[in-house]
Amino acid sequence: MKIGIGNDHAGVEMKHEIIEFLESMGHQVVNYGTDEKASCDYPVYGEKVARAVAAGEVDKGILICGTGVGISLAANKVHGIRAVVCSEPATARLSRLHNDANVLAFGARIVGMELAKMIVETWLNTEFEGGRHQRRVDLIMDVENR
Ligand code: RB5
Repeated sequence: MKIGIGNDHAGVEMKHEIIEFLESMGHQVVNYGTDEKASCDYPVYGEKVARAVAAGEVDKGILICGTGVGISLAANKVHGIRAVVCSEPATARLSRLHNDANVLAFGARIVGMELAKMIVETWLNTEFEGGRHQRRVDLIMDVENR
């Protein structure tokens, strides 16, 4: 899978480890995030990754900031994006099964490295269930058209 990854200053170290982890699983990674620890603005990177996902340049997006919250809020402003903040694998799994989430966010100040890897692996390896969930996802996306 081709994955776009983005982060602010709070997520630099975790981002690099996650990139290595993704590549070790055979994924191709495009880095849209900052590699500097100087304070920067997370919406910039949330939007970059979200636009790449919406345009089909990458299959899915992963975002890391301090909490995962701000960067996911920015990503969700882009049409076609369903970004979720996950701090444990159960939500990550259900966000794929039921919500067909196309962007995953988490907080480098909230989850440890091993938990972050479990969240990423679970999220990437879970397929959307479709069926009744498709109707609900369609209803979510309809909100963007009104
Ligand atoms: C940066 O200090 C912090 O606000 C940011 O990384 C993130 O947690 C915002 O939601």
